[in-house]
Amino acid sequence: MRILEGEGVTKYFGGLAAISNVGFHVDQGEIVGLIGPNGAGKTTLFNLISAALVLNSGVIKFKGEKISGLKPHQVCRAGVARTFQSVKIFGNIPVLGNVLLGSLFGTSTGMSSADAAREAMESLEFVGLSTMRATPAKDLTLANQKRLEVARALATQPDLLLIDELIAGLNPTETAQAMELVTRIRDRGITILMIEHVMKAIMSICDRIIVLHHGEKIAEGTPQEITASKTVVEVYLGDQAYAGS
Ligand SMILES: Nc1ncnc2c1ncn2[C@@H]1O[C@H](COP(=O)(O)OP(=O)(O)O)[C@@H](O)[C@H]1O
Ligand SMILES: [Mg+2]
Repeated sequence: MRILEGEGVTKYFGGLAAISNVGFHVDQGEIVGLIGPNGAGKTTLFNLISAALVLNSGVIKFKGEKISGLKPHQVCRAGVARTFQSVKIFGNIPVLGNVLLGSLFGTSTGMSSADAAREAMESLEFVGLSTMRATPAKDLTLANQKRLEVARALATQPDLLLIDELIAGLNPTETAQAMELVTRIRDRGITILMIEHVMKAIMSICDRIIVLHHGEKIAEGTPQEITASKTVVEVYLGDQAYAGS
């Protein structure tokens, strides 16, 4: 089943088309990677899906229903959660409080505070942060702040999770742990669309990859097909190989 689909999705910033007539889909249960050079429009596409930005034209559907035009909280309650490229946590609030915001305000049915607290603790345990629940979020390492955002997103009980650069800035051990976390989330039945620059990670974990360049979709396929694509190697992977990442 198509859990997410976009048609003709277009977003201008002034005269610049950050996303230009992009069509895409994600099937239920998939892990789909969204890659492309800096400025390609990846985060903008996430902002359009999550309704942080309003598109200029096109349509985005979730489970067959149009979600473009909804407000961010409505998209979240419909079952689409996200994390942010540059973490957006409440630094002075304890870890548990950050996750409670997800379970209290992000779920479709609304929860009693007891249920929201239980859900928040479960999410923290799932990402491995339960022992740090009382720590102010700003005191966590970057890797743990990224996990905290995942926990907050999971606490909204999503069917689709959008992950924006979970691995950027992490060391090899943290990277392996982050990839393992993504796999466990999918094993829970949550579909994943993830933006990532670390090719080794994305190639090993994704069922399918979509490549953006200058706001346009230039390729789509299995990791093998993408690695073999001349266009993708020219505009993106060539640089990556050169940079040794
Ligand atoms: N809020 C904004 N206002 C103006 N320009 C923006 C805004 N957000 C992104 N852009 C521009 O849109 C393009 C795509 O950005 P972005 O989606 O962040 O790329 P990526 O995530 O692929 O690196 C870039 O040229 C960026 O400078
Ligand atoms: Mg980005």
